[in-house]
Amino acid sequence: MDAKALLLNRHSQPRLTYPGPTAEQLDLMLAAGARAPDHAGLTPWEFVVAEGEGLERLGEIYFQAAKADGAEGEALARARLLPTRAPVVITVIAKVSEHPKVPAIEQHLSAGCAVMAMQMMAYSLGLGGIWRTGPYARHPLVREALGVQGDDEIVGFLYIGTPLKQTEARSAPALEGLVRHL
Ligand SMILES: Cc1cc2nc3c(=O)[nH]c(=O)nc-3n(C[C@H](O)[C@H](O)[C@H](O)COP(=O)(O)O)c2cc1C
Repeated sequence: MDAKALLLNRHSQPRLTYPGPTAEQLDLMLAAGARAPDHAGLTPWEFVVAEGEGLERLGEIYFQAAKADGAEGEALARARLLPTRAPVVITVIAKVSEHPKVPAIEQHLSAGCAVMAMQMMAYSLGLGGIWRTGPYARHPLVREALGVQGDDEIVGFLYIGTPLKQTEARSAPALEGLVRHL
């Protein structure tokens, strides 16, 4: 896919099914993530890949978090199933280290760039994906279960799979009002 077309047409696909990425496609996505801009070469990212039983393990983590928050019945059951909305979920964690020139926000931003790079690679391979966060990204039990500490942040759960149907990018917002020239 032409890079211009990719950048102008990338969009999210929330309805995903099997097949998920092949091992080779997954490696390409992770390699794209690891090409994210990185001030001072800190590699401030960790990519936690869940597929197969890994999705069940992630669902169990959500389940425990929902239970701790008092969820019951359908809401509690739904928590366990959330990760099964795609064949693969990659949790992207910003791993923050102390650096005199690179504040935590720059390391969080770098991890966010990694999410989008992986989504774009998936899109270029004919796969689809959606970047999600929600309350579980900040939940203390989810953070603990995934080894997220201190200034580290879960910046996204990237859901990847085959789009259930062909979709098109929403029309881009008008640049008027978003841009000004000095
Ligand atoms: C940091 C971040 C977190 C997001 N979290 C969610 C989410 O939890 N659930 C969701 O449906 N969309 C979420 N989105 C939005 C989608 O990823 C997507 O960008 C949005 O639906 C617009 O679609 P588009 O990417 O096709 O333009 C999030 C986006 C960002 C940047």
